[in-house]
Amino acid sequence: MSLDVAEFETVPAAWTRRHLLDLEGLSAEELTCLLDTAAQFKHATDNCKRRLPVLAGRTVANLFFENSTRTRNSFSLAAKRLGADTIEFTSSGSSVSKGETFIDTAKNIEAMNVDALVVRHSAPGTPHLLSNNVACSVVNAGDGPHEHPTQGLLDILTIREHRGTLAGLTVALVGDIAHSRTARSNIWGLKTLGAHVIVCGPATLVSRRWEEFGVEVAYKLDDILPRCDVLNLLRIQFERQYTRPFPSVREYALLYAMDRQRLRRAKDNVLIMAPGPINRGVEITPEVADGPHSVILDQVTNGLAVRMAVLWLVMNV
Ligand code: CP
Repeated sequence: MSLDVAEFETVPAAWTRRHLLDLEGLSAEELTCLLDTAAQFKHATDNCKRRLPVLAGRTVANLFFENSTRTRNSFSLAAKRLGADTIEFTSSGSSVSKGETFIDTAKNIEAMNVDALVVRHSAPGTPHLLSNNVACSVVNAGDGPHEHPTQGLLDILTIREHRGTLAGLTVALVGDIAHSRTARSNIWGLKTLGAHVIVCGPATLVSRRWEEFGVEVAYKLDDILPRCDVLNLLRIQFERQYTRPFPSVREYALLYAMDRQRLRRAKDNVLIMAPGPINRGVEITPEVADGPHSVILDQVTNGLAVRMAVLWLVMNV
């Protein structure tokens, strides 16, 4: 056994959960354990490039009932990097079309001696429902507009890498807060770790009620821009909306798109983030998305490290 594998024999005492369903309710110690473990995996695997077979002989199944590029592929690669076998289920092309229920589908996949189910679904609470119906670990890979815990963790890990700490930072989540699971996971994680969080966007997409949770609510990006350390630019999720929340995409971009002019008014070391997929020209312009302040692709690499950490932790308690 290599020294690297020996380093991952025992799960830290701070981690006791068999499932990762959301970031709401996780303590600062649990969040720090997740982030530290991700950083450890990143280091031990040479920036997530090398294999480290600490899950050899185990099986991870990805159950994706919604489309995905980053999350599905990085969970799959994270499991493989750790030596696990993987099952890739997508609802399109499956027996769901013949009327098989969600729970029956999941239980049948679990019956193939699966140790962890990673689930994405458009219905909020689906991973919680699943965790009450299967014996193996369950990881939420995004449940409707509710939460996307590994996205929140990879965003926070990226900020911590660039700034050293979360405490005292001002992080703005800009755009479609109402329908964003990424926003919710970021809010819970960032607040618990001591950051000041601003949610900013059109009033139709940003509820004043967030103030009840200690989050600042703003409707004018230009007003908050100069005091933000991080700007996380969220996609408008038209697929989750029945009516248009603003008159036109052009009007939204005029008020909220991060462009060259706005970047000049931001802090010199501001971090520009986006969970992806990005809509170039809507929430962010290409020169900002591809510019020196952008850490968007660092977020993707950190997604691998975070998912290695989550799989290893939940499968070893
Ligand atoms: N950020 C994110 O969840 O991307 P995917 O939908 O491509 O997985």
